[in-house]
Amino acid sequence: MSHLVLDVSNALSFSEYGELDDFQSAIDCIHKRLNSRTEQQENLLGWLNHPLTYDVDEFKHIQRAAITVQQGSEILLVIGIGGSYTGTRAAIEMLTHHFNNHLLRESRRFPQLFFVGNQLSSTYISDLIELLRDKDFSINIVSKSGRTLEPAIAFRIFRKILEEKYGKHGARSRIVVTTDRQEGRLIEMAMNEGYETFFIPPDIGGRFSVLTAVGLFPLAVSGIRIEELMEGAVVARTELSQRDIKHNNAYKYAVTRNVLYQGNKNIELFVSYEPNFHYFLEWWKQLFAESEGKSQKGIFPSTAIYSTDLHSLGQYVQEGPPNLFETILRVRKTNKDIRIERTNSNQDELNYLAGQTVDFVNNKIFEGTLQAHAENGIPNIVIEVPEVNAFTVGYLFYFFQLSCAVSGYLLGVNPFNQPGVEVYKEKVQTLLKQTTIKAR
Ligand code: PA5
Repeated sequence: MSHLVLDVSNALSFSEYGELDDFQSAIDCIHKRLNSRTEQQENLLGWLNHPLTYDVDEFKHIQRAAITVQQGSEILLVIGIGGSYTGTRAAIEMLTHHFNNHLLRESRRFPQLFFVGNQLSSTYISDLIELLRDKDFSINIVSKSGRTLEPAIAFRIFRKILEEKYGKHGARSRIVVTTDRQEGRLIEMAMNEGYETFFIPPDIGGRFSVLTAVGLFPLAVSGIRIEELMEGAVVARTELSQRDIKHNNAYKYAVTRNVLYQGNKNIELFVSYEPNFHYFLEWWKQLFAESEGKSQKGIFPSTAIYSTDLHSLGQYVQEGPPNLFETILRVRKTNKDIRIERTNSNQDELNYLAGQTVDFVNNKIFEGTLQAHAENGIPNIVIEVPEVNAFTVGYLFYFFQLSCAVSGYLLGVNPFNQPGVEVYKEKVQTLLKQTTIKAR
């Protein structure tokens, strides 16, 4: 059984800019680079072999700590932003009930997860405080640098609430820190206060870190089988280790995007027909935007949920400027399906669909949309996974991380830094300091 099927035939047929084979020698160099010890030591490449080399003792420790939270808390508050947020949220949304946080407490076996520190909306924070008032909760603060403003402010606010509620000692056992072993303020705080702490390996950057404690701990708290998630990543690591583009789907996807980019397709619309993939699309968007958008280069990564967005973006995709291609992430078999029933009156004239399922119709929308867009010259890449489970999600995380690194190298940028993000952070710090000095 194949874990991921990649169809690029509708992408390459549109391109006059090269065949996959033309890229083999470039890929050979990148493959060598990725697997060279020096490159691995000099760059943030720890994620490459992480599924094979991760610390098993820490993994078990994460599982035990998750049980403690499950036993004592109704809610886990996950504080983080960017790579310390999107991957976790993606996996949670894909692997739990669509309305998990709205289910009755009896039918939810595991704590609810809420996220904060991923923006600084005071309304959002106030509403969350109101929601938490009468609930038992714990906090997982995730920040590799330990210095990011949004999560740091959220942690200050919610730690105080926790301490007021349970006392300093009680709060201490409800705070779990995930951070770098050496860098930043958070590790110092964690050590001083004696918080449970998990470490993000120094050679794994934020957006490549979901398969470390960053994602594993909160996912384990929500009852997700993190060993299956890692198993998916292990299999991906093995399957995607071939040098030959034709036999390596991650390389093939990376090359195809770059072929399209050379043909002036500089927007990639990443699409799913499953609304609970929304945050996975967001994770993908961050991964590619921060990794590739530099030196005035890069494909602009955008996302859409169909068929919802066919009723908003659809017009633009069909008839807007011709610089866009689509990548569709499909699931062959959905976990649940519903049959459409016949009615006697047939007032809605839908009896022609009686006996079919909702998923059947969703698939026809996929096929029809693909045809409509392709006939208008919009190339597409289709990525298909057999079903949605922890294994598949682990596989997908690894697949896109590898594709992204290779794609960045092909583009000629360093996929592991984000100098542009630092620029805005510095400006904000200067403004905040100026304002507070004036106010004193
Ligand atoms: O990919 C990255 O490095 C960034 O998106 C970071 O994850 C994000 O800025 C959050 O950083 P930190 O975990 O240090 O708070």
